[in-house]
Amino acid sequence: MASLIASSVAATLLAAHVAQAQPAVSLLIDTGYASSGPLHVASILPAVSARKGQTFHFGSTYDTTEAPQSWFDTMFESFFKHVVSENGCKWDATEPEQGVSNLTECQACHSFATARGNSFRGHNTFWHQQMPAWLPGNFTASELVGNIIPQHVKQEIGGMGPSVTSWDVVNEVVGDNATTGMTALQCVLSKADWPTVTADGSGIPLVKDLSFIYAAFSTAFATAGPNTRLAVNDYNTGGQDAKTELAIGFQSHLTAAVGGFYTKSELATTFSTLAKLGVEAMITEMDIELATNSTAFLRYQAAIWGDYLDACLYASNCNEFINWDPRDDLSWRGLPAAATLFDGEGNPKPAAYEVAARFENFAAGKPEPCSTSSGTSVCKLSRH
Ligand code: G3I
Repeated sequence: MASLIASSVAATLLAAHVAQAQPAVSLLIDTGYASSGPLHVASILPAVSARKGQTFHFGSTYDTTEAPQSWFDTMFESFFKHVVSENGCKWDATEPEQGVSNLTECQACHSFATARGNSFRGHNTFWHQQMPAWLPGNFTASELVGNIIPQHVKQEIGGMGPSVTSWDVVNEVVGDNATTGMTALQCVLSKADWPTVTADGSGIPLVKDLSFIYAAFSTAFATAGPNTRLAVNDYNTGGQDAKTELAIGFQSHLTAAVGGFYTKSELATTFSTLAKLGVEAMITEMDIELATNSTAFLRYQAAIWGDYLDACLYASNCNEFINWDPRDDLSWRGLPAAATLFDGEGNPKPAAYEVAARFENFAAGKPEPCSTSSGTSVCKLSRH
């Protein structure tokens, strides 16, 4: 008897622990929306855009080297309608020799998009990673700011043309330890990456002000199409904090765990703050790592995805939503993380069906569903 009670207490404690780790979420796909069979997001998007009053761009990453091509062909017709080159528009690919523009892969991704009626977003013109070998460590601050950055930004944005919906003009330039009260310069210096420190590991500053960001943006502004959005794109952003204040592209590399994502209300507050400033927001690189590829975690992932999508859909100023890597076997987070909408064989996961359901709900003119990723005790979804 005693051992039964002990094991029952242990089981209860374990159940409580598991429940906390994987909330019993409520999903629209539990209430009559499709949870199996074909997904027709592409055919719903025009009605989504009609309700938004402008085109809603929903898509994912692509590079021509990615296999299997036939799966991409199908998915960028029927599900995704917006393309970002995962690596092909980065500085190492687009200016492999100083002053020599090579937009081959970036253009190929753009052509892939155009051929399927997809729009295209640009990622990125400036990042401290994936730089060409000729660049870091070889120039003075004034050469970099006065010549190298403007020339690169101009040749890339100009070369890709005015149809690009948005460009990540600078990527990941704010430190994770940025706090309220710091100046923008202090936030950027706290990043402690090239070019505000040299690339030789000495920690010596190269650029000591925000001139490199200004150079990139002023060139982008002068070169981009009139409707192209220009972004500071960064991770660990979306809530009410100093780092978020400096970004408008919210990467959203998330984890399905308490504290691993922002709540829908935090996102809504951030989007609304930007809207009041007349600034657009976008979800640029969404994925959600799972502790375990179990049914409970797949449902948790679906709820978080649904909440992020709703936050963007129901905001007046969010019109781009990118899923970073379209399937688990191609994800930079690794197959076991199961961080994308489609599994390692390209089959839709609960999150893909939930995304479709949220789009249908929005397109039908329904009010915004409550936030589901905190569990059913907080919110229970219903179809009507
Ligand atoms: O192209 C080479 C290939 O020639 C070589 O044989 C192979 C050997 O490792 O490497 C290939 O390059 C890889 C490249 O992806 C293309 O597949 C690099 O090693 C690899 O580091 C690179 O990873 C990319 C990563 O950025 C680089 O930091 C990921 O695909 C890409 O998803 C990831 O994307 C970034 C965003 O741009 C910015 N935000 C964070 C996000 C995730 O890290």
